[in-house]
Amino acid sequence: MSTLDLFGDAPPSDEDKARDVARAAELRALLHHHAHCYYTLDAPEVPDAEYDRLFRDLQVLETAHPELLTPDSPTQRVGGKVLDAFASVQHRVPMLSIRTETDTEASGAEAFDARVRKELNLSEAEPAVQYVAELKFDGLAMSLRYENGVLVQAATRGDGETGEEVTANIRTIGQIPLRLPADAPPVLEVRGEVYMRRDDFEKLNERQRARIAAGMKGEKTFVNPRNAAAGAVRQLDSGIAAERPLSFFAYGWGDMTPAAEGGPVWGTHFEALQQLKSWGFPVAEQTSCVQGAAGLVGFHQRMAAERDALPYDIDGVVYKVNRLDWQQQLGFVTREPRWAVAHKYPAQEEMTTVLAIDVQVGRTGKLTPVAKLAPVFVGGVTVTNATLHNELEARRKDVRVGDTVIVRRAGDVIPEVVSVVLDKRPAGAELFTMMSHCPVCGSLAEREEGEADHRCTGGLFCSAQRKQAVWHFAHRRAMDIEGLGDKLVDQLVDSGQVNTLADLYHLQLDTLANMDRMAEKSAVNLLDALEKSKQATLPRFVFGLGIRHVGEATAKELARHFGQLAAIMDASEDALLQVPDVGPIVAHSIHTFFAQAHNREVVQALRDAGIHWPEGDALAPTEMPLAGLTVVLTGTLQSMGRDEAKDKLEALGAKVAGSVSKKTSYVVAGAEAGSKLDKAQALGIKVLDDAGLAMLLNGEKP
Ligand code: IVH
Repeated sequence: MSTLDLFGDAPPSDEDKARDVARAAELRALLHHHAHCYYTLDAPEVPDAEYDRLFRDLQVLETAHPELLTPDSPTQRVGGKVLDAFASVQHRVPMLSIRTETDTEASGAEAFDARVRKELNLSEAEPAVQYVAELKFDGLAMSLRYENGVLVQAATRGDGETGEEVTANIRTIGQIPLRLPADAPPVLEVRGEVYMRRDDFEKLNERQRARIAAGMKGEKTFVNPRNAAAGAVRQLDSGIAAERPLSFFAYGWGDMTPAAEGGPVWGTHFEALQQLKSWGFPVAEQTSCVQGAAGLVGFHQRMAAERDALPYDIDGVVYKVNRLDWQQQLGFVTREPRWAVAHKYPAQEEMTTVLAIDVQVGRTGKLTPVAKLAPVFVGGVTVTNATLHNELEARRKDVRVGDTVIVRRAGDVIPEVVSVVLDKRPAGAELFTMMSHCPVCGSLAEREEGEADHRCTGGLFCSAQRKQAVWHFAHRRAMDIEGLGDKLVDQLVDSGQVNTLADLYHLQLDTLANMDRMAEKSAVNLLDALEKSKQATLPRFVFGLGIRHVGEATAKELARHFGQLAAIMDASEDALLQVPDVGPIVAHSIHTFFAQAHNREVVQALRDAGIHWPEGDALAPTEMPLAGLTVVLTGTLQSMGRDEAKDKLEALGAKVAGSVSKKTSYVVAGAEAGSKLDKAQALGIKVLDDAGLAMLLNGEKP
């Protein structure tokens, strides 16, 4: 019988019962273990989502069979164990936990509003309930006690009743006031979250890596900002804590002098937060008063969109009934208030296993180890691959086949393996070693001194490199050969029809039409596209050759500087160094490329096949009216496509950048421009429309 059937009508058999008892005991042991790793050792072994899942499994079992519930069950207490070395603090007002809505969709918010209305006996005719919507910061809860306006004690939540005294460490947080203004009540406990900003976390880890490299004992890097914040707060040496940059947000209060004795009289949660802010406590600017379920859903969606741009981690949002008399009326169920709920976002970290470590061969022969993962849904997409970059990196993370790993995907960032769960490593798993030969062509794989990457030495003998050379040549921003897709290139190279780039221009209709999934019509279209591509430009052709380190921008600079292909091919390294943005590595790479006879032959064969371009003289800098300007394009332009605008601007010497910064000269914004436009406005950068762009291209000042 599955867990779901527990809710069915059939009485469970003894066998089922015994299995549930055993499962509950197993879950409790697992949760105790993970809670110990997380709270006491500050070294979690599993992502939060996995812990939450085990926790909920246990809750489901205990709800269905209350007799399984034991007093020591992790579901019956709020947090971790108190370290002996810190003094204990008895919380005068317990630090409560908060119920988590695991339904991450809008329906999660609607369910909470419906529950609140029901408990308050509000009929449908009654107006929407007002809520305060807050961010759910991913740090650790803290209670700050002020007596007569002075910070006298800071305590962690601990198990909710008893926490740890960490005052010395908390005093090091600049954002936390040590003294309050005169209108603060004689006794006040402010509650909120201590956390670490992402940039501070990166800096801290950078420093830790340097310390490890310098051979300092006992130093380690941290898995995530929360883990680093917890480690800092629970430092016995407050000097070390002071080196770890922490931040704080207030979101509530505990013990307080009653109103009759001069304490504040607050009617709503929002009012209270405003007051805390006026006393100097940081309150997140996103904190909002919203109306009813629709207001909650709107906040949840807005924050989901903002999440990745925030300078700190959040794992959800929190909704709280605004009226304090209603909060009182709603009360608590087993240590969780009925007036608040945490509404989570899909996890950005998940656990999965490494099925294999494949090695992929790049266009220039770079060998990249890639972890093939059991499919896992994380950060909104299903992830099956994570690059390990190179042998050094794979070994630094020590990822092995069979390992259980934690994978992170935040925003648009490519998924990465954050760490390995060493406890789960199968016996006999071996350290990754880069193979000595290319997995595709068998040529020797080499790593140059001072470089991290191994490379296949096969060059165009290697079919993997040949295929990618062809894809690159056909690229939209190179020769722009439409219809020459990956699968077709694979077939053409594998069948020996295309060995060099020039072979593309000798393909026959029947050869093409005989390829898998190629109809005659698409074969004709491809031949047309090939024909069209013969009318090239010098920068596109140079870029298309796929010379290592020569991207689109460098190809343009080369064309501009030398004017003619022959001049580029015959240039010395010194001459190449005269080109803007070309340094010794790039100059060497270009020189070496054209020094090789087979590369010169490929160029000649392509020209013989009919590829041509208007050759000119080297351009003088005076013909570059937009030299020195940096332009960012965003949104949909009416007068031309973005690629065309980019080409035109660059032809006049402007740099076209992908993101807005203080160095940006203009942002050209078309319809539906997004965050780039916002940023330009925030930085006071001049924004142009189609007309402004036309002026710029005409050499007028917009
Ligand atoms: S309110 C009675 N508000 O989430 C409600 N908690 O269990 C007490 N957290 O331990 C908590 N952001 O550390 C509240 N805006 C927020 C929060 C928040 C993060 C943490 C807090 C607490 C846990 C919930």
